[in-house]
Amino acid sequence: MAAADSTIAEVLEFDERTDFSAPDIRAQVRDALENGNVLYLKGCGFELTERERAIITDPKIIFRGNEQRAKRTGRPTLTFDMAVDRLLFNSIRMPERREIEAMLRRYSVWSRDLLEKLVPDFARACEQNRIIYRPAERAQRQGLHVDTTYLYPTQGRSKLRIFCNIDPSGRPREWELGERFENFAQRYLPSIRIERSWFEKTTDRAASLARIVTGQRTGYDHVLEKMRQLGKQDRDFQKKSPRRNFSFPAGSAWVALTDVVLHGGVSGQHALDQVFFLPPEVMRDPSRSALRILERLSGHTLV
Ligand SMILES: [Fe+2]
Repeated sequence: MAAADSTIAEVLEFDERTDFSAPDIRAQVRDALENGNVLYLKGCGFELTERERAIITDPKIIFRGNEQRAKRTGRPTLTFDMAVDRLLFNSIRMPERREIEAMLRRYSVWSRDLLEKLVPDFARACEQNRIIYRPAERAQRQGLHVDTTYLYPTQGRSKLRIFCNIDPSGRPREWELGERFENFAQRYLPSIRIERSWFEKTTDRAASLARIVTGQRTGYDHVLEKMRQLGKQDRDFQKKSPRRNFSFPAGSAWVALTDVVLHGGVSGQHALDQVFFLPPEVMRDPSRSALRILERLSGHTLV
């Protein structure tokens, strides 16, 4: 079990023989997530069908034949929106687009079942938000960050994400994990002005994007986004802050609250993840959520 006071996010390893219904394992899993650590589920990944493998390894389908450009830009990032039950903003042609959508739908059911097995209370309370599929090879380090979701304000809920490395060629996906969220928040919160207008108006930029922005942005969404920006732009922080690297092999899954866990992709290709929104009050200790930490440190109510 990872120590809660360790200065960098820990990775806890489990495998397919683990009995996740055992009370001690269940407590460990839940605590690991709430403490801002990562669950690494070795050999427990989402399995593709032969047809799905064939589709995602055909560069003509996913990259329209230009894999080199995909490698440079890291795109496309394919987003499957559960609310509308389809892929958004993509250029994949029919009929393969339908087949990829079917794969992502299958992944959503698989992820829900996995969360039910890991932390049933979370599964009951979480909203299943969207699925992201990154087929392109990551060409450069992403930089340490926490996840924010501009188009999908979480309104104080944590982002619980279930990732899988589905690379058919078997390469690992490498991540960096950074310092604890509270340190990160203390570093940047003093330079963020918390504005009353975030709580009083509904007619901010979100309104002008009303067609694609789902729900009103709260102080939590604003503050977290600013912190992410400041961290990404801070060269010193990106260069010198403590971190550990971890490789997630093909065929594995990993789970984390990514608004609390500082992380960044380093390399890899073909990753899938399901985003859930987790209300802090469902946590055994809601004071460990990003929302409550930011409220305590800033002295403001953020939702
Ligand atoms: Fe991220």
